[in-house]
Amino acid sequence: MSKFLVLYSSQTGNTKQVAEAIAACLPRETACLPLAEAPNSFAEFDCVFLGFWVDRSKADAKTLEILPRLDAKNVALFMTLGASPASPHAAKCMDETAKLLPPGTVCQGTFICQGKIDPKVIEMMYKMFPPGSPHGQSPERDALHAEAAKHPNPTDLANAQNFANEVLLKL
Ligand SMILES: Cc1cc2nc3c(=O)[nH]c(=O)nc-3n(C[C@H](O)[C@H](O)[C@H](O)COP(=O)(O)O)c2cc1C
Repeated sequence: MSKFLVLYSSQTGNTKQVAEAIAACLPRETACLPLAEAPNSFAEFDCVFLGFWVDRSKADAKTLEILPRLDAKNVALFMTLGASPASPHAAKCMDETAKLLPPGTVCQGTFICQGKIDPKVIEMMYKMFPPGSPHGQSPERDALHAEAAKHPNPTDLANAQNFANEVLLKL
């Protein structure tokens, strides 16, 4: 019987929501744990699903810390971020993160989901950056934040489950 683990890092709950959706379609005994409760060794797992959030164009710090010791046979990565999942920014964040897996660990798939951004962070950015600059207030930025505020939605969670099922088929 294959053994799985879902691990996640989540500050405001978006990645946790996706993690729980993924765990729900894995065998009943599969643990779904925050990174703080990660085991010391991953050798017993056939696949670890690792979820993280994007913090200033990189995986969050807790994820960056665990990646080099994630020596499971197989890993599947999922990520949430404020930007569009189809953006080059999203693809780059995921690609750069996957590169940090230890040699020998196979990444069996990736899933990117948009996630609402903490309004305090938006307010802070709008104060820090002049209007019209890439991170300052603009109609485009407001539209991006309004779209992000709708995610993860039920379709995203269903897509996350499809992703998990596709990974299972590959193992
Ligand atoms: C400090 C900070 C930095 C962030 N940096 C980015 C970023 O570079 N790109 C992006 O698309 N979203 C960024 N976000 C948005 C988060 O990645 C997004 O809200 C994510 O879904 C949060 O996940 P969580 O709810 O699991 O913590 C940032 C959020 C915070 C709080």
